Parts: sequence; structure tokens; C-alpha cells
Amino acid sequence: MQNYLSFYPKGFETVVEDVLQRVCRDLKIKYNKAGRVLFETNIRWESISRLSHFDASFLLINYSSKPETKDLAHLFSWAESNKTFFKFIQDYAKGKLSLRVVDSSPNYPKSHFRKVKLRVEDKLRRLYGIKIDLAHPDSEIRFIEREDFGFVGIRVSKPPQYKRRNYRDRLRPDIASLLIELSEPRKSDVFLDPFSGSGIIPSLRTKLGPFHKVYATDRYILKTEFMVEKGEKSYVKIIQSDYKHLDKHFDKSISKIVTDPPWGAIETNLDIEAFYRKLFTQFIRICAKRALVVLITSQVEIMKNILDYNKESFYLENCIDTEVSGREASVFKIRKVK
Ligand SMILES: C[S@@+](CC[C@H](N)C(=O)[O-])C[C@H]1O[C@@H](n2cnc3c(N)ncnc32)[C@H](O)[C@@H]1O
Repeated sequence: MQNYLSFYPKGFETVVEDVLQRVCRDLKIKYNKAGRVLFETNIRWESISRLSHFDASFLLINYSSKPETKDLAHLFSWAESNKTFFKFIQDYAKGKLSLRVVDSSPNYPKSHFRKVKLRVEDKLRRLYGIKIDLAHPDSEIRFIEREDFGFVGIRVSKPPQYKRRNYRDRLRPDIASLLIELSEPRKSDVFLDPFSGSGIIPSLRTKLGPFHKVYATDRYILKTEFMVEKGEKSYVKIIQSDYKHLDKHFDKSISKIVTDPPWGAIETNLDIEAFYRKLFTQFIRICAKRALVVLITSQVEIMKNILDYNKESFYLENCIDTEVSGREASVFKIRKVK
């Protein structure tokens, strides 16, 4: 069995457990709180690395929540003198990957472990032929200490630079994936993101399980560049449309909507309450019976008013309080009644 530690956005504990239960049949969750889940499974790291629901995932070599053994000085001296540590990395790398050693602790100055890091890297290079790349390694060995835990692990998720795209308002892929998970993906889904922007939500939906159709609409369709990456065939049907005209394109056929609409923070002249009211009028026109709408916004009170106003047509199934780029936001999972 392998131990993994994955990090995810605040509030998604239950959703994360659902994802892991589906992926790992032999799953044992040891800890799941405060945006991190520690779990044991036989599933190989390659499968865990493909889960876009996490901000980062680590294959663990050592983990501790005890004050004496979570300390970074302790973890480094344990690693240097421990055969298991080097064997673990050798097995993982198998001469193919480039690595670097990274450390972080609130209790030590930045360069405190520089020498020991160099010694570890040197040993990995000399004895096992592992390539050390300090600029753009394929993976990292992390020595991390936080207030209530410390760990040594190999990052199995993609490098951070892979996740950064040039579209500035793009929703983080982990949040987008968790919103999609909340929409209960099915083969029969006729899925729509009416504010698709960069296209991250519809693009990920096509990768997270079978579907019937996936539509992306936005008033500025040029921003949907993410969906047509080089060499990648897109299954998303893109339509340029203002949200007020959605009913011109769809007639009660949409079974799932997952979206990140404007929050009214950037657009100065926008009456956000009127905007959301019109949006729900459109949802009534284009959604099939029992359709699901998953929507993220910082406008929590306004959304509650809108739901109250539309209570004959929609009801709230779940509400998750989270954070996006340091801003409080809530995720609403809403079901159409009829
Ligand atoms: C918060 S951004 C969505 C970002 C998107 N989730 C992403 O990750 O790239 C809101 C989007 O709503 C679109 N939008 C704003 N007003 C609109 C309108 N009246 N009709 C359709 N789209 C609109 C903007 O063009 C923008 O792409």
C-alpha cells in the first residue's frame, strides 16, 4: 500500500472523498480536513497524478503530526541516514525523471537546509544516476513542515508551471474539477457552461467521464482558446452568445450547468442582482426537468434571494463555502424542480 497526501480548496471534504472512493477501490482515508487528505491505496502514483481535482499530490515517504518528528531538522536527518528513503526515490525515478529537493518550514530561515539538500541531491546523482534539475524538474522531493504536520514526499502531480495559463481570470483546474464532480457526471449529460471564458470547465468536463454533449457559450468567444490546444481535439461545441439569448440555442435540453458567472467585482456598471435574475429566467427556459446547476459566486446573499424568488422552479441541494484567489465564495448546487 502507498500513502498519498493531496491538497484541495477549502470546503470540499465530502466531494474529495467521493472522487477518491471512485478511483481507489481499496481506499483508506487516514485524515481529511483543512484542505488536505491523507490516504492509503494500492493505486499507482500515475493514476493519482492524473486527478485534476487536487492542487498538488504527493507520494509520501514520511509523514508525522507529532511535534518532535514533524520538525524539518528531524525529517532531513531521518532521510540522510535512511536507506528506505533513497530506495523509495530510486524506485520512483527509475532513471527517467529529473528531480530537485525543495524545503519549507515556518521555523527555519530559507537557506538553513541548503547544505543537507545539496548532500541529498549529490547522493541521488552519484549513486543512482538521477538527474538533478533545479529550474524545471519533472518532479520534486519535498520536505515540508507546517503548524500541525510535517512530511517528506515526491510530488506526483504536474509541475506548477503546467497549470498556469495566460488567461488571467481562469478558474483553477482543481476548483473546476470539483464543481464538475458536484454535478454528478453521467453519460447522458447535455452539459453547458454559459460563461465559459477560457473554457476550462467544459474542457475538463470532456475529460472527466462520458457525456452526450458539452456546450460552451460566452459573449467573447475568443477567450475559449484553452479548448483548442495544439494537437488536442476538442469535443466541446462552442457558441458565441450573450447569456440573455441562451434560449435561442437550447430548448429545455440542458441537463447539467456548471459555471463561474461574473461576480460583479470587475464590471463597475453591472447590476449583479438583475444580471442573476435574468440568468435564472434563462435557466428555466433551457433546463430539462430535474437538471442540476452548479454555480460559484462571491454574491452569496444575492444568490439566496434569487433562489427564494425562484423557489417554485429550483431548490438548493448543497452549498459549500470556499475561497478563490483569497476571496470568499460559495458553491451552490441547485436542482430544477420541473
Ligand atoms: C468569471 S469569468 C469566467 C471565467 C471562466 N470560468 C474561466 O475559468 O475562464 C466570466 C465570463 O463571463 C463572460 N460574460 C460576461 N458577461 C456576459 C454576458 N452578458 N453574456 C455572456 N457571457 C458573459 C465574460 O466574457 C467572462 O468570460
